[in-house]
Amino acid sequence: MDKLAIQGGARLQGEIRISGAKNAALPILCAGLLTADTLRLENLPKLKDISTSLTLLGHIGMQVSLDDKNGVDLQAAHLHTLEAPYDLVKTMRASILVLGPMLARYGEARVSLPGGCAIGSRPVDLHIKGLQAMGAEIHIEHGYIHAKVTRLQGARIFMDTVTVTGTENLMMAATLANGITVLENAAREPEVTDLAHCLIAMGAQIEGVGSDTITITGVESLHGATHAIMADRIETGTYLVAAAMTQGRVKLLGTRADTLDAVLEKLREAGAQIDVEADSISLSMQGRPRAVSVKTAPYPAFPTDMQAQFMAMNCIADGVSRVTETIFENRFMHVQEMQRLGASIEIEGNTALVRGVEQLDGAVVMATDLRASASLVLAALVAEGETVIERIYHIDRGYECIEEKFSQLGARIRRVH
Ligand code: UD1
Repeated sequence: MDKLAIQGGARLQGEIRISGAKNAALPILCAGLLTADTLRLENLPKLKDISTSLTLLGHIGMQVSLDDKNGVDLQAAHLHTLEAPYDLVKTMRASILVLGPMLARYGEARVSLPGGCAIGSRPVDLHIKGLQAMGAEIHIEHGYIHAKVTRLQGARIFMDTVTVTGTENLMMAATLANGITVLENAAREPEVTDLAHCLIAMGAQIEGVGSDTITITGVESLHGATHAIMADRIETGTYLVAAAMTQGRVKLLGTRADTLDAVLEKLREAGAQIDVEADSISLSMQGRPRAVSVKTAPYPAFPTDMQAQFMAMNCIADGVSRVTETIFENRFMHVQEMQRLGASIEIEGNTALVRGVEQLDGAVVMATDLRASASLVLAALVAEGETVIERIYHIDRGYECIEEKFSQLGARIRRVH
């Protein structure tokens, strides 16, 4: 299994290009199941989760044709099977996103209950309830969701928790339903909006995009389209925090600040100077970051996918901070590993009390989930001596060429096979 070896102490400087967003690409790939025509996607990131998703879609019968410029042509004219098997679904929770589109277009789907990051129980009950409200018959047997319907019917669906993939699954399903579907308390994450824009380009009728009430008027069929995946706001945020921690100066290209307000606000509070242009963000940091308290919540509030990275920054910041996680109940697995690097963190319920220390010490640590792993890379960049991060397959699920991008910014980082 690959490891990352990082020598701490280098200031990050320079420019890198941000990749397409994993969390936008995953639902949009599944949107390809909604039409027999070709869906062309651009700015697709090269990531393990994307290849897992393409393997699953290929298994189902989608024709997948990748080019060497981050583009892909998808065509789901004839499917081989309406089953997403456990072996393919277990490594990636987002595989549940095939359920809505397959059911809407073919009236049937069998999808294994998902696995994915070990950050809490993460049920899919709201996906299932929503599809049932649209008339689907659903039962769970031998670890599989079996869903059937003649044609989905429009419905008013209130989700009592804001769910990103739940909103995406139901929005995709509703595009081909008979009548009008209203999704209330819908997720407003930019990735949901990016999916909506792709669906609209395919002929879907969707109103309220970006708000918490999304109205979809079902149509008979969708057609092909070309769509460029939005920039990854979490990858962007991760490199910005890395630059702030190392007191560096970086420019991130091909990304947009308007999806990152809460994160940029907190970085400014920590003392960073941030300059925004239409498709780039620059950050420079002089001196040690100030400790900043954060509390995660659905968009547009502070994202749970940036919680671990801010915890890493707070570990070496000046002062004491509170990091509160309200979305997932088991998302502090990085804490133990950060403590191995010399961090001072106390957990009480869903809050971590972090006392900034002057210096972390390199050690061997273990990556546990995707964003936790990224936070360990950030901690390693400022730790004294060498840090070795084991089990980095988690990082490869969500960060394209992480060691190349950090090397380009001057970090001393290498992959050990
Ligand atoms: C997505 C993102 C993930 C991010 C998360 C929260 C993708 C592929 N992944 O995950 O990176 O951390 O949003 O921003 O886009 N819940 C239920 N019932 C459900 C569904 C969810 O109770 O049916 C709960 C979950 O347990 C969790 C909360 O809702 O507490 C939010 O989860 P959700 O937004 O669904 O996360 P994902 O869509 O899986």
